[in-house]
Amino acid sequence: MMQLQRANNVADLRTQARRKLPHPIFEYLEGGADDEVSLSRNSAAFRELELLPDVLVDVSSVRTETTIFGQPCRWPLMLSPTGLTRMFHGHAELAVARAAARHGLPYCLSTMGTTRLEELGQAGSGPKLFQIYIFKDRGLTAEFVARCKDAGYHGLVLTVDTPVAGNRERDRASGLSLPPRLTLSSLLSFALHPSWSLQALTGSKFDLANVSHRVDALAAGPMSLFDYIGGQFDRAVTWRDLEWLAAEWNGPLAIKGVMTPADAEQSINCGATGVILSNHGGRQLDGAPAPADQISAVRARIGDGPDVICDGGVRRGSDVVKALALGATACSIGRPYIYGLAAGGEAGVDRVLSLLFEEFERTMTLAGVPDIAALGQRHVRRRS
Ligand code: FNR
Repeated sequence: MMQLQRANNVADLRTQARRKLPHPIFEYLEGGADDEVSLSRNSAAFRELELLPDVLVDVSSVRTETTIFGQPCRWPLMLSPTGLTRMFHGHAELAVARAAARHGLPYCLSTMGTTRLEELGQAGSGPKLFQIYIFKDRGLTAEFVARCKDAGYHGLVLTVDTPVAGNRERDRASGLSLPPRLTLSSLLSFALHPSWSLQALTGSKFDLANVSHRVDALAAGPMSLFDYIGGQFDRAVTWRDLEWLAAEWNGPLAIKGVMTPADAEQSINCGATGVILSNHGGRQLDGAPAPADQISAVRARIGDGPDVICDGGVRRGSDVVKALALGATACSIGRPYIYGLAAGGEAGVDRVLSLLFEEFERTMTLAGVPDIAALGQRHVRRRS
């Protein structure tokens, strides 16, 4: 707890997470695809933006409340889906969902999560989103839609940037195995992190909890489950499948992985209510632009109505202010909340969210903008 309080920012929590996690697990968290060009640009794009403050404005209070996918939120931030969250801390997705709910922020559970969506639906009172794929077996996707309706989820997030897995060379170099197993090469790394190893390596906790019922031969071990789900990724998914999903769900639906104004427009035309500009945290198509660099053009193309979320590279509250000034509805974070989770479980996620909120509110105050609705293009400029 003391340690968490000593963290002044996301970077400090990253340092703490690095100390707590075995090397292959930290590398899995940090890594991007190929040369990690997109990964590094995601954050760099924010640093290239300058904030142009208004002065002599009454900023004695700042209004930060908004709605994301129709759900009221304390400020414009959501928590992105991350698979296998249990690898980073035994309390996994439940800890993240509870902290997000306390901060009044939406949390999106991944299909590849390690907690059943029904269990998560009951954790905390915050807005709940579920990240879905259109699998080869459309029946599996339809089953998820029905389960999300029954469990009271507020929205679906369809990830579309994963027809195949990105090329993550760090995972091969570090000898990562999924799920993590004790092998000769991982032994030293795990031995150096006994508390992590104890809580993480016991039992069958690494099951993909939401799909495990689909595999008859679970006795064959969790790897068969990974093989099964790996085989479900469909390279033939098209806009027609999106129309099908939108009709099936008939509620707030965001397409995650959209990068261009044309695809954002097509997403809305096919039944989505919003888009999440994302290159999967630089983990899929290397060379894809930074989401922050696409906000203005996408907003100009699809107008004010749909939600536009900027996902990737957010490490400071000021990054959210910049994204909003460019036209985003909100930002989304992946690695930052995992740093907190790995550093200190639910309290660690709490710490990350508190730090980012304080930074966001302070930046709004210093920029002389007392209401997020008043943020606009005139507050931001690309460094020439
Ligand atoms: C992810 N991401 C992801 N996205 C998704 O749609 N489904 C998933 O299961 C996962 N899993 C996942 C695991 C890990 C360890 C990471 C780091 C990321 C991508 C994630 O939702 C988000 O797009 C990025 O993390 C955003 O970039 P930052 O905030 O990490 O820079």
